[in-house]
Amino acid sequence: MSSPIATSKKSVLKKSIINLHKKLSHSHRIAVLGEIISKEISSLRSGREEIKILDIGCGDMSLIELIQTYVENVNPICLDIYPLPGEYLNDSKWQKYKQFDGQNIPYDGNYFDFSILSDVLHHDFKNSYSLLKESLRVSHITIIKDHFQKSFYSRLMLKFMDIIGNWGYGVALPKNYFTEVSFQKLLNEVGAVEIKRINNIELYSHNIFLSIFLKSDWQFISIIKKK
Ligand SMILES: C[S@@+](CC[C@H](N)C(=O)[O-])C[C@H]1O[C@@H](n2cnc3c(N)ncnc32)[C@H](O)[C@@H]1O
Repeated sequence: MSSPIATSKKSVLKKSIINLHKKLSHSHRIAVLGEIISKEISSLRSGREEIKILDIGCGDMSLIELIQTYVENVNPICLDIYPLPGEYLNDSKWQKYKQFDGQNIPYDGNYFDFSILSDVLHHDFKNSYSLLKESLRVSHITIIKDHFQKSFYSRLMLKFMDIIGNWGYGVALPKNYFTEVSFQKLLNEVGAVEIKRINNIELYSHNIFLSIFLKSDWQFISIIKKK
């Protein structure tokens, strides 16, 4: 889910859209992504010793919190671009959260075993190069979940879903989405090699209406590392 700390001022319309999004998609999306990403992390880790995972653009942190229930011995750190509101400062849930500038990740090289960028890069296209480069620098493996636009229709529907999922929270809406070509170009530019691609992620199978209009091949996960 988008960041609940992006703005404290939410109109009645924004609150209604947040509730609609929670009912329509949020928990199912997190359940599906959490299970897939956890399986991939479990198969890529070596041994059972603690693994450090950086969740970049963590939103409400529900994805990493679900991953922690599937994967043993995870030490998570969550980054996003908003300051933590005063009322969360002593909340144990938010102790793993750190604000950063959206481009420079304040950790040493290879500090993390894994980084996750789940539906983040398309929210900040202009910084996607530096953000991905930084993710590759600080972690051995980066797991990206994002969208592919395949046509005018898919672009329109992805925009619509982004409005439902983010506008209510005050998070900037994306202007663009990856195509398979532009995503591969970005991987080449940052010097990354893809270890695995998972296409066709069923995020809307729980709702017959949504599954008619929203296609699973607009969703992908790409697991990458430095060349
Ligand atoms: C659609 S939400 C995804 C939240 C979470 N990763 C998930 O999958 O549920 C997009 C998140 O990206 C964050 N974001 C936008 N630009 C960013 C940047 N340059 N660096 C890090 N996070 C960013 C937003 O604040 C928001 O929390």
